[in-house]
Amino acid sequence: MNWEDETTTAADARLVTPSADTEDSAVEAALRPRTLDEFVGQERVRQQLDLVLRAARQRGATADHVLLSGAPGLGKTTLSMIIASEMNAPIRITSGPAIQHAGDLAAILSSLQEGEVLFLDEIHRMSRPAEEMLYMAMEDFRVDVIVGKGPGATAIPLELPPFTLVGATTRAGLLPPPLRDRFGFTAHMEFYEPVELERVIHRSAQLLDVEIDPDGAAEIAGRSRGTPRIANRLLRRVRDYAQVEADGRVDREVAAAALQVYEVDTRGLDRLDRAVLQALLKLFGGGPVGLSTLAVAVGEERETVEEVAEPFLVREGLLARTPRGRVATPAAWAHLGLTPPQQAQGASGQQGLFGT
Ligand SMILES: Nc1ncnc2c1ncn2[C@@H]1O[C@H](COP(=O)(O)OP(=O)(O)O)[C@@H](O)[C@H]1O
Ligand SMILES: [Mg+2]
Repeated sequence: MNWEDETTTAADARLVTPSADTEDSAVEAALRPRTLDEFVGQERVRQQLDLVLRAARQRGATADHVLLSGAPGLGKTTLSMIIASEMNAPIRITSGPAIQHAGDLAAILSSLQEGEVLFLDEIHRMSRPAEEMLYMAMEDFRVDVIVGKGPGATAIPLELPPFTLVGATTRAGLLPPPLRDRFGFTAHMEFYEPVELERVIHRSAQLLDVEIDPDGAAEIAGRSRGTPRIANRLLRRVRDYAQVEADGRVDREVAAAALQVYEVDTRGLDRLDRAVLQALLKLFGGGPVGLSTLAVAVGEERETVEEVAEPFLVREGLLARTPRGRVATPAAWAHLGLTPPQQAQGASGQQGLFGT
């Protein structure tokens, strides 16, 4: 699946972007669950990780290297911190893009304490030489530090204390197999079910001192795109609305009214998503239509439509990418409350799409 990167882009100004903005980063620290028990959902991952960590603790050993893969905002950074705290170990946080030279990595590795957790976010964006150094460090707890240049250069082996590498990636498919194979445990994080997001929202509301009833939480959860980070962000916007326009309490009406102001609809589509669907349905009879034509129709860049709007529309089963162009599904017509043209419903639904 083509998940958006964690890198911030202009499109990230959207309320429903899964990557963290500055406000998120400030607030998220306070909302992060600290233990596996507090971590909502991801039952399978939690159960497996619990076993890995408990077994290591019983043996008095350092836990195996862990790879966390999944879309932005699903809890990878949170889990890495939980791993450290469950192991009672300190954590060092860095990221692939921050490690451009093997020397950067050598400096970090050589200063680790025994048992320390090294969290390497966006591990798929590390440079090749650093990646190769990491192989040896993960397997043998050893690095070769190169001293000097050219023919006179020598490799000085350096022993490392045992440590646990926790790698996170939104693109597990981009990891070279030798790197993937060196992780003892790989956790695939899934999008959350609405009931799980309701629990995330109730928990955050309590921490933020927001009064919210079950219907209010359900209303926000349904619009959160399966992503805790988005749920927490929508909750904050709803809180603002409740404070200014109501008595501060969040129920279904308040949540729905607030999110209408912010143009996040009942399925979590925002203005851009709806503009794309609307053009596809109203101007092109549901398609097929080429990406460039669709982009011109909504007045956006091709890339914006393809990379920002479409992944979620495809995931939601509202839009399909076919060799002949973009096609709306029956669910798209239903969601926008429009009736598909008669011909499009038949088996040979490609003719006469521009009718009505
Ligand atoms: N399972 C969960 N339970 C409760 N809160 C969660 C969970 N997963 C993520 N969150 C919240 O969502 C936000 C984003 O999580 P984070 O770990 O930064 O995601 P990622 O690193 O995968 O992008 C954090 O504020 C965190 O508190
Ligand atoms: Mg993260």
